[in-house]
Amino acid sequence: MAVRDILRMGHPVLFQQAAPVIEFNTPELAVLLEDMHDTMIAANGAGLAAPQIGMSLQVVIFGVKENPRYPDAEQVPYTILINPKITAIEDEMVEGWEGCLSVPGLRGVVPRYSHIRYTGFDPKGEVIDRTVQGFHARVVQHECDHLIGVLYPMRMTDLRALGYTSVLFPDRDESEDD
Ligand code: NI
Repeated sequence: MAVRDILRMGHPVLFQQAAPVIEFNTPELAVLLEDMHDTMIAANGAGLAAPQIGMSLQVVIFGVKENPRYPDAEQVPYTILINPKITAIEDEMVEGWEGCLSVPGLRGVVPRYSHIRYTGFDPKGEVIDRTVQGFHARVVQHECDHLIGVLYPMRMTDLRALGYTSVLFPDRDESEDD
C-alpha cells in the first residue's frame, strides 16, 4: 500500500497534456494503479487521475460506493480507464457541484454534458465502451479533464459559484467526498 501525495492547483504537472499508455498489463502500470487506488481511498475521493500524483499518463480511476448516509447519491462502479475518449450524446449540459482533491476545501458549480459515451481500455488492454448519464457522466468528464490539463474551476461559467465547502455546506462532514 502506498498513499502518494496529491498535487494541488498551481503545480505545473496538473496543467499538462498527459501521454497515452503504450504498454498494458505491465508491473509498472500495476504499481501505479495500486498507488492511485490507495491514494483515492485514503483521501475519500470519488476519482483520481494519474497526473494528480505526478504521473503525466492517461490513466484515471473512479467509483462511488453506496453510502447509507447519502441514500440518494448515485453509485458509480469502480473503474480503471486508460487512454479515454469522451463523446457527448446530446448537447444538453447540466450544472452540478464538484470538488477536486487537487483543489482541497472548495466546491464549485460546473456545467457538464448530461449524457456521454466514453471509451478506453482497462489495465489488460481490453476495451471499455459505456454510455452513461448523470453523476457517472460528470465524474468521468471531471477525471478526463485532468488528462488535458484542465481543473474544474477552468470549466466554471460563474466564479461566484466557487466557495469553501465549510461555508457553502456548513452541515456537511468535511471528511466526505472531495
Ligand atoms: Ni479532480
